[in-house]
Amino acid sequence: MALIADFARAAGCARIAAARKPLVPKIVAIYPGTFDPVTNGHLDLIERASKLFDRLIVALLRNPDKDALFSLSERTEMLRESVRHLKNVRVESFDGLLVEYARRKGARVILRGIRAVSDYEYELQMAMMNRQLQPELETVFMLPAEAYSYLSSRLVKEVARLGGSVKGLVPPAVERRIRAKVS
Ligand code: PNS
Repeated sequence: MALIADFARAAGCARIAAARKPLVPKIVAIYPGTFDPVTNGHLDLIERASKLFDRLIVALLRNPDKDALFSLSERTEMLRESVRHLKNVRVESFDGLLVEYARRKGARVILRGIRAVSDYEYELQMAMMNRQLQPELETVFMLPAEAYSYLSSRLVKEVARLGGSVKGLVPPAVERRIRAKVS
């Protein structure tokens, strides 16, 4: 098989060479979340995952959350700006069941970040429920860099609201937007 493909390629028969390429399915992963707002911890995970999967969809939950600091379109904009350099990463939004959205997108993986043991219980529950709903879909857990292991959107908002600096915890554009919101 490889010989035929090599020969076809050498002879310039692009169509034959392409037809003989082994069919390796592309792995699409979905990284779902609220991202209110995106932090450097999220971005660290997105960069790591973009090297592992063929395509990564960062999926914002469209659920109207009364406590959200940023609207869905603001959260989407901030994420899009932050991942612009990653060519295989897209930012979308979804509502309803995550497993249904994953099915529509042809995704085989749900990606979630685990920072500390305290995250594990909630993540395990979600992963098991999603497996119950859609056994073909795998949840993959990844660890962010140690420097971000204490970081969460909730704490970033709290610190900013109380006048503390969030420099280095979120991208500079996000930092500016938070300051504008809370001042
Ligand atoms: O960033 P978050 O708030 O921890 O993300 C939670 C999220 C969006 C992954 C979760 O709430 C979710 O998947 N919601 C979609 C609705 C759904 O499928 N619920 C059943 C999951 S077990």
